[in-house]
Amino acid sequence: MPIWQDDGAVPVKSESPTVRIRRCEVVLFEPRETVEFQLQSLLSGGNGMVRSLGWMALAPHLDGPVPVSPRQRDLLGVLGPSQWVWADSIGMHGDEQAALVDAGLVLLEQSETDSTAAVHLANDQRLRDSHWHPLAAILHAFTRWDAVDAVKNTVDGGTDTAKGMREVLGPPPANTATRGEVEAIVLPHTEPTEFDALLLRRATCRNFDDSRVLPLPMFTRMLARVFGAQSQVRVGPDLVFHKKNSPSGGGLHPIEAYLVVQNVDGVRPGLYRYRADSHDLVPLPDPERPLRDFIMESVGQQHWFANAHCLVALVPRFDRTFWKYRRHAKGYRVVTLEAGHLSQTLYLSATDLGLGAFITGAINEKHLERGFGLDPIRQGALAVCGFGWRGQHMQTAELDPLEQVWQRVG
Ligand SMILES: Cc1cc2nc3c(=O)[nH]c(=O)nc-3n(C[C@H](O)[C@H](O)[C@H](O)COP(=O)(O)O)c2cc1C
Repeated sequence: MPIWQDDGAVPVKSESPTVRIRRCEVVLFEPRETVEFQLQSLLSGGNGMVRSLGWMALAPHLDGPVPVSPRQRDLLGVLGPSQWVWADSIGMHGDEQAALVDAGLVLLEQSETDSTAAVHLANDQRLRDSHWHPLAAILHAFTRWDAVDAVKNTVDGGTDTAKGMREVLGPPPANTATRGEVEAIVLPHTEPTEFDALLLRRATCRNFDDSRVLPLPMFTRMLARVFGAQSQVRVGPDLVFHKKNSPSGGGLHPIEAYLVVQNVDGVRPGLYRYRADSHDLVPLPDPERPLRDFIMESVGQQHWFANAHCLVALVPRFDRTFWKYRRHAKGYRVVTLEAGHLSQTLYLSATDLGLGAFITGAINEKHLERGFGLDPIRQGALAVCGFGWRGQHMQTAELDPLEQVWQRVG
């Protein structure tokens, strides 16, 4: 719903506001093209597609992009994010202020408790306190999905099979880049060890056996290995570093494990948060919908992951890493890289126990935030992993060309 109507009318000057204002901490303006089908265009000889350009304000403390008029964009360009000022000092009229305050782009110094303006002010303050790099905050906020069906999208696009991808997308860049300047130095191969054998058995599992229960010791061993703190180093009364089995930028280990336990001996199916220091599970309120629906929505409707005995959302507390790396150009990247390390530790730990494991980035983050009760400014979901017993039959394709996995299962 646009917060403006670009009818060319000169803004009406209304009563002078009695509260000072400032701009939200972070906002970026995007000239966005929207393409709409209009029958009229087709009937009058066009191709039916009507393109229009409009300005979008991208402010990460808000729930989505906000369409703004050129006038509003200009007003926001002369209103700073730190000093509180009177609206008329920048030529902003009362009704213009009201619309921008309602949208959350302009903040009121004082407002009624629980009013929309107060909520925007509080959200903006949490963003300031979290020390996000502005571009990272925008990237993170506006790449979150809600209610996306990733499977339907690939089927509709014809890219759900390797053959389909090649047909639709054309040839990919080569699997190994060649530069061809000088002759390569041939490297010797080494004798494989047990660890090499373990690595060869790692394969993304898309076939879980929901008829088998995962024993509690296997479940707890997985959590301790992947997410638990092996020891702690106390530097001061409120500064403690965990030592874990995966590396972490600044040693801060911001990523927490939020679990959907489905089929584990002795653990009631439901949502939990794993505590790394005390190695325990904190039960969370049940989701509003049945657990299976919650899982399907979490993994973008990828049914091949839905039978995993335990699913784990990798949830960073961004403000922990950004406490050290304040507005740092690499802060967000460091946290996302860490998710990859945790995933690999999870894959290898599961493989070692004879279990299957997966990771998916095709997740509905906003759904996970609601379900797990996360603060979307300080926290977020970067990926969902899972583990459990493999099924007896491969119904959904897995990549096991050396038959390291399926000749053991079948
Ligand atoms: C960050 C990341 C995201 C992934 N997302 C998905 C996904 O959404 N769906 C899926 O089926 N597999 C996903 N995978 C698994 C890859 O498809 C898989 O690793 C790849 O096909 C190679 O197979 P392998 O893991 O068995 O070696 C993901 C892997 C990574 C590392």
